Amino acid sequence: MSFSILLRLLTVPLLVISAASIQAEAPAPYSEESVAKGSQLYLHFCTECHGKDGRALMDVISDATDLTDPEAYYNGSTRADMYRSIADGAGVGMPPWKSQFKGEQDMWHLVNFIRSLWTAEQRAAL
Ligand code: HEC
Repeated sequence: MSFSILLRLLTVPLLVISAASIQAEAPAPYSEESVAKGSQLYLHFCTECHGKDGRALMDVISDATDLTDPEAYYNGSTRADMYRSIADGAGVGMPPWKSQFKGEQDMWHLVNFIRSLWTAEQRAAL
């Protein structure tokens, strides 16, 4: 096999990979609209363990994290950490959600909604 054919064979998969990564959507930025979408999803899927206010104090079935206090998180509280906890699950009691949602954006809306429960200083710091 000549060197140029070999080079061409190597370039095709590289082009396919870079096209795929361009298509991946950027995470939904923090905005009123995203927080509102996240709030709807949260009320539907998350209150049974984290409670309506995110504090996991009343009427909840498991020992879930108080989501209003980023310092109390067991698995990190950066945007990426929170996304991972939601997508892949966390600890013993937090189920993975990535197969429940059509795309990644719903989970970023959830991240934004949870961050809306924090103070502005906490949001700015993390
Ligand atoms: C079946 C109960 C249950 C449901 C439903 C649930 N969670 Fe959780 N969640 C937990 C528990 C328990 C933890 C603590 C995990 C641990 O011990 O590390 C947790 C942790 C988390 C964390 C990480 C916090 C940390 O401590 O690092 C996030 C973020 C989170 N949940 C978001 C959500 C969202 C968003 C939903 C809805 C899509 C949801 N949870 C639904 C039980 C639940």
